Amino acid sequence: MRIAIIGGGYVGLVSGACFAEFGVSVAVVEADAAKRQMLLGGQIPIYEPGLDRLVADNVAAGRLTFPAALEEGIHDAEAVFIAVGTPTRRGDGHADLTYVFAAVEQVLRALDHPVVIVTKSTVPVGTGRKILELARELRPDLAVDVASNPEFLREGSAIGDFMRPDRVVVGAESERAREVLRQLYRPLNLIETPIVFTGLESAELIKYAANGFLAMKITFINEMADLCEKVGADVNDIAKGIGLDGRIGRKFLHAGPGFGGSCFPKDTLALMRIAEEAGAPSRLIQSVVAVNDARKEAMAARVVAACGGDVTGKTIAVLGLAFKPETDDMREAPSLPLVRGLISRGARVQAFDPEAMTQARPLLPESVVLAADTAEALTGADALVLVTEWNEFRALAPAKLKELMRGNAVIDLRNVFDPKAMREAGFIYSGIGRAAS
Ligand code: UDX
Repeated sequence: MRIAIIGGGYVGLVSGACFAEFGVSVAVVEADAAKRQMLLGGQIPIYEPGLDRLVADNVAAGRLTFPAALEEGIHDAEAVFIAVGTPTRRGDGHADLTYVFAAVEQVLRALDHPVVIVTKSTVPVGTGRKILELARELRPDLAVDVASNPEFLREGSAIGDFMRPDRVVVGAESERAREVLRQLYRPLNLIETPIVFTGLESAELIKYAANGFLAMKITFINEMADLCEKVGADVNDIAKGIGLDGRIGRKFLHAGPGFGGSCFPKDTLALMRIAEEAGAPSRLIQSVVAVNDARKEAMAARVVAACGGDVTGKTIAVLGLAFKPETDDMREAPSLPLVRGLISRGARVQAFDPEAMTQARPLLPESVVLAADTAEALTGADALVLVTEWNEFRALAPAKLKELMRGNAVIDLRNVFDPKAMREAGFIYSGIGRAAS
């Protein structure tokens, strides 16, 4: 089986490499010549564990190619996946579909045989049907099918998520489209992965509903954390105590500085707009967006309070800048408003992240010192703020902190340190939703 994937970004590259690993012949069409050259040279423009190896192996095996021309990529393809970006449109919060429709139009004009056009990018409900209409209009001579196959890949564990998903969602209207997708995902039969077949609109909405629900779950536990701090409870116990109820589930109940990343902020905003425009506004999702935005903005004030109410002239070590571990992605990272807020309140910030330093530099105020490593960030610091829970930060022993730091404030925005051990070592420890005792 042969497929083409339009867009060699995060989703296109991971999906392409994984389908190739399944034994499919995959042509990833990347319009950006510089990016294409990098890929051809075996360089992966993003940090994703295992992806470089998977791409290299499949290129070497001849299953994964990066053709220069779209025509070359889609010639012979049975399915063409659209995996271009859908950023938030400036001004109204909707997903910007410029790239999606440009890609679809280019594909339709270049086609010399019928294919199934599959959207992998997260697109607003109704996009699949618009693509179908465009296909009928531009290529009445070809029986083009359309399917929606949303991705549920987490950055940092995208390959595992693709190879061992909880489910695959396929929205399709024709048996041929369903059959092509069924064939593509056949290797997952071995691990009994359910494939949920739906109509186009439902598949498109499933993606938003899934991300909206997960974002809501995080926001809920974050609010519970605030309440815990007021009433002397511990949010980790709350998460465990409610999460063991199978109806609630244990995952995505880690309280923290608010969610960031390329998906949750964008998709919750888009879902909010979709629901408003459809005449069924979601007050829950509106609240999730507002509460999370406010939470990220409030983290600087929380740090200032933990430092005794004033950070003027104080040196603050910020550990972790990426929006989560195992990625270099800085999009909507809680570290950004936090660091800006600390700088504007007169603090000196020494920051370190194992992967995101290059990405972070242009986004941070110039006065922020980007340290070479964890130890350098901590050296002479009055306070430590842990923002992203990279493993190397989890392993930091109180004795090491004592040795490097000048002050004794530890603000743990991910609840990774042991409060008791910290306090016994003489630190003034504050976590998220953890009782002060
Ligand atoms: C997410 C979805 O998980 C994935 O299915 C979807 O396709 C894309 O968006 P991703 O953004 O890569 O993936 O990261 P994820 O691990 O889900 O974390 C998102 C954000 O939520 C991060 O900022 C993370 O720190 C935060 N988070 C997550 C919490 O604060 N608490 C949690 O319990 C879980």
